[in-house]
Amino acid sequence: MSPSINHLILNAIQKKPINRTPIWIMRQAGRYLPEYNKIKDKAGGFINLLRNPDLACEVTLQPLKRFNLDAAIIFSDILVVAELLNLEFEFIEKKGPVFFNTITTKKDLGIVPNKFDISKLNYVFEAIKLVKNELNNSKPLIGFIGSPWTVATYVVEGNSTKKFNKINKLVDEENPIIDDILSLITNASIEYVQKQIDAGIDIIMIFDTWSNLLTKNNYQRYSLSYINKINEVIRKTKTPIIYYSRNTYENLNLLKHLDVDVVGINSDVDIKIVKKNIGERFALQGNLDVKILKEDNNTIKNEVKKILNNYGIESGHIFNLGTGITPDIKPEKVALLVDFIQNISPEYHL
Ligand code: CP3
Repeated sequence: MSPSINHLILNAIQKKPINRTPIWIMRQAGRYLPEYNKIKDKAGGFINLLRNPDLACEVTLQPLKRFNLDAAIIFSDILVVAELLNLEFEFIEKKGPVFFNTITTKKDLGIVPNKFDISKLNYVFEAIKLVKNELNNSKPLIGFIGSPWTVATYVVEGNSTKKFNKINKLVDEENPIIDDILSLITNASIEYVQKQIDAGIDIIMIFDTWSNLLTKNNYQRYSLSYINKINEVIRKTKTPIIYYSRNTYENLNLLKHLDVDVVGINSDVDIKIVKKNIGERFALQGNLDVKILKEDNNTIKNEVKKILNNYGIESGHIFNLGTGITPDIKPEKVALLVDFIQNISPEYHL
C-alpha cells in the first residue's frame, strides 16, 4: 500500500476518526453509464475492453469523473484468473460468461498447467499501473479476486447458471475433485493477488458472491478455509482486505474468525445487527438495496438515512450498495446518492 495515501476509506477501515462516511459503488464502472457503453463498443465487447489496459484504465476512472466517489476499483472480472488454469471463456451480451471448457472430472484436470503463466494477466497489472498513475494517490485503488468457491461455480458449471446443479452434486457426494479444483484456484489466486499488490493496489476485495449456496459446515470447509490460505499471503503485505458475501446473517459466528478488515454485506440484513455481532472486529461496507435507486429522491434519502442511523455515530462504515449496480439505474440517482452521503454523513461523525 502506498504510505502517502491518507484517505477516508483507509481511515474508515482502521476506524480512525473521519469527518464523513466514505462511499463507492460495486460495479461503479458499468452499463448504467453511457460513456462506458461507448468505450465497450469501441473495444469490441467486454472481454476486449478488460484486456486493453488503456481502455480499462479509462473506464475505471469514468465514474470518478462523474461522481465524487472515494475509491476506484480496477476494471476487470473475477473470472480472468481462470486463464491461468488454461480455461477459455467469452462473455455473451445479456447472458454473461460462457466457458469453452470446464473442470468436473479428474480427467479434465489434465488441461491445467503445472506452473501458472502469470504473464497472461499482464493486462490487469498494466491497467493497475496506469490507474495508479492517473490517481496520483488522490484516492485508493481497489483490486479484487473472487473467492475460490465463487470462481469454482463458474469453472464447474461453465456459465452463469441460476441452478448450480453440477457443483451442488460434487459437494453432495463429497467428490474429492472439488478440493482439487478449489486448491488450484486458490494457488492461482495467491499468485494473482500478489501481482496486483506489486502493481500498486491499495485495498483488496474478495467477492464470495455464491457463498450462499453452501450450508454452514460446507461454507467453512469449501469457502472460508481456502480464503484463509489466500489471506495469509495478503496479510504479509499489510494490504487491507474487504470480504463480501451474501449470507452474512446466518454466518455471523463463522465470520468472527475470518482474518479480514472489512465485511461487505448484502441488503437483506440490518447493518445494526451485523455491527452488534461483529462490528467490534471489522469495519462494515454496505448496504443499500440497488432497487431503491429506482425510487423517488425522498425515498432514496430516507433509506440512506436509515442505514446511517443503523450504523450509528462512529467511524468504520464504508457506504455501498448490497450488490453491484445494475444497467437499469439512472446515473442521476447515483449522483444524488453520492451528494447526499457527502452532505448528511458528517452528522454521524463527531
Ligand atoms: O466493481 C467494478 O466496477 C469492477 C469490475 C467488476 C466486474 N465484475 C465487471 C463486470 C467486478 C468487481 C466484477 C466481479 C464479478 N464478476 C462477480 C462478483 C461480484 C458480483 O457482482 O456478484 C461475479 C460473480 C462476476 C462474474 C460475472 N461477470 C458475471 C456473472 C457477469 C454477467 C452478469 C452481468 O452483470 O452482466 C459478468 C459481467 C461483468 N463484469 C460486467 C461488468 C461491468 C458486465 C459486462 C458488460 O459490460 O457487458
